[in-house]
Amino acid sequence: MIQQSLYFVVHRQSEASGTFYVFVGLLLLFIQQLTVFMQADLQLFQQIAEQLIAAEENQPVTPIVPPEQLYQQLDLALNDEPADSEGYEKALTDLILNTPKTTSKAFFNQLFGGRNGKAVVGELLSVLLNNSMYTYKVAGPMVGVEKVIINKIKSLLGYPSTAEGTLAAGGSMTNFMGMLMARDRFDAEIRQKGVQQTLIAYTSKEAHYSVPKNAAFIGVGRQNVRYIESNEKGEMLVSDLVAQIEKDLIAGYSPFFVNATAGTTVLGAFDPIDAIADVCQLYGLWLHVDGAYCGSVMFSDKYKHLIKGAHRADSFSLNAHKMLSTPLSCSIILSKEKKHLYDSFSNDASYLYQADGDELNTGKISFQCGRRNDALKFWTLWKAIGTKGLTQMVEHEFALAEHGRQYVLKHPDYEVYSHENSIAVCFNYKGIDAKKLCTLLYEKGKLVVGYGSFRGTTFIRLVTVNAGNEQVDIDNFFKTLEDFVQEYWEELFT
Ligand SMILES: Cc1ncc(COP(=O)(O)O)c(C=O)c1O
Repeated sequence: MIQQSLYFVVHRQSEASGTFYVFVGLLLLFIQQLTVFMQADLQLFQQIAEQLIAAEENQPVTPIVPPEQLYQQLDLALNDEPADSEGYEKALTDLILNTPKTTSKAFFNQLFGGRNGKAVVGELLSVLLNNSMYTYKVAGPMVGVEKVIINKIKSLLGYPSTAEGTLAAGGSMTNFMGMLMARDRFDAEIRQKGVQQTLIAYTSKEAHYSVPKNAAFIGVGRQNVRYIESNEKGEMLVSDLVAQIEKDLIAGYSPFFVNATAGTTVLGAFDPIDAIADVCQLYGLWLHVDGAYCGSVMFSDKYKHLIKGAHRADSFSLNAHKMLSTPLSCSIILSKEKKHLYDSFSNDASYLYQADGDELNTGKISFQCGRRNDALKFWTLWKAIGTKGLTQMVEHEFALAEHGRQYVLKHPDYEVYSHENSIAVCFNYKGIDAKKLCTLLYEKGKLVVGYGSFRGTTFIRLVTVNAGNEQVDIDNFFKTLEDFVQEYWEELFT
């Protein structure tokens, strides 16, 4: 392209329309320069990515440095003058290499983990494209990508053709959307006049904290969330749900919404959706299934019985960034009737919706205005490994958990708190305080794992949500933990 540009500048100047050609030549030079800049940026990206991947192997836990010291050590300052390229490269490389590594084999702390290359490529390309997912005019075939995903999930769930779905920025937000649709179905006037009555929402004690938070957001109020008891496995007790609803009706309140969880945050338990759906049907309540963590069991014939009755739910959310190895975030919400998504989220905007119909203008069913393309990364993964690959992923995570659970069950030094059919292995080791052990493991750079509580007992929660792990990685986890306890025995007990 450089030769072409120079040709225009040098040879065509003398011609009648010389000025025009000079202009075109300079433009081409400018474009060429832009391309070179991007090439340099991409090269830097690749260079840092390679260093990061090597570091994940060699040092899976980023050394812990106190924040004040780390902020001093890194060049985070933003200055009036641009950084020179060397300084820029160093600042960026240092920053990346000093960030916690959530994709390494020592990370078991949250309900996501690992890295899938096929999904990463989709994510990087969506960043390059920088579409916004509100109109076909701006997102083009990416609307189709989103629709294909939604339609597949609709059919896996057993939802009717009248169902519709969208993606939003995380499971908290998709749960919010479910609760808001429930509120608006209960009383369409609320959208105009605000909440006039005491609306009551029900969820189990083991549900995610987004439920009360969302109740506050939508004007229901935190104190109007009823926390239903669960059984010893952490599954909602339907008898308690019924008793609570009856109590609220007698008090003159307005029950409107039940949240059932498919994979509770700590124990990974599944609420009995079918039985809860019976209750919702009887009392005319909206049933939302929070499948953010483990709703992806729908991909497995072996495990989908855990969400039996899901097709009866009014809305269902799942996070592909948890069990399905897609980079954060990739959260999907489906409503059994598309009408409710439109009723609650559609807003006229003449500056935005200027072409095509509602079906293609997905902003009409979205919480957000500008919305990033979270669908492409899930699509690239799905396309590359097929539905069968996603099934294997889900089943592999359960197999890893069962492997871990069997290990702790067989070793008398462990006490187990989780049950089968969960991808969380909850345990304590040698009666050591879980909080202390997890904190020390993290501070000494050995393992990043968290703790949780159930019925007043706190324990370590090992999640097997990284589909890239193998049984040997779970064995290594326990070996590392046991060696560590031996080495730091005194520190753990002082
Ligand atoms: C059961 C459950 N629901 C919802 C969420 C929230 O999802 P996100 O972190 O994507 O907001 C979580 C997060 O861990 C969860 O465990």
